[in-house]
Amino acid sequence: MDKDALIAAARQAASTAYAPYSNFHVGAALAFADGSVVTGANVENASYGLTLCAETVAVGKAMAEGKRGGLQAVAVIGGKVGHVGAGDPVTPCGRCRQMLNEVAQLGSTDPLVWCVGESDVLELRLSELLPRAFGPSALE
Ligand code: THU
Repeated sequence: MDKDALIAAARQAASTAYAPYSNFHVGAALAFADGSVVTGANVENASYGLTLCAETVAVGKAMAEGKRGGLQAVAVIGGKVGHVGAGDPVTPCGRCRQMLNEVAQLGSTDPLVWCVGESDVLELRLSELLPRAFGPSALE
């Protein structure tokens, strides 16, 4: 998967964020082995704690499309409205790491996660972000 193209997809997704409470827009793009890309943006709620992060939305969309593995790479970008990608790299929150782990572990992949910032793009494996993850294989 082309890194720049995946980051561009995440940036595009961020433009659809519904984040009127934080004004922090996040976009995520998931690249699969079949060449497909599934994106997500954060969806906030007037009951703040119900907010869905961009990565979680993307995983939900992918699973609803029938994806059960093949996750090769993830790009995440965010920032205040009008400044997406302008600050420090945005790393997935803990819940999102776990959500990403589900689809990764189903297909026995350890995806690259590109966390986009203004002056650098962190490149980490999901296993670095979530070591010794609990996943579907633990329930077999
Ligand atoms: N957010 C994400 O979408 N992904 C993350 O990994 C971190 C945080 C969103 C949730 C909320 O809408 C906003 O960023 C501020 O926390």
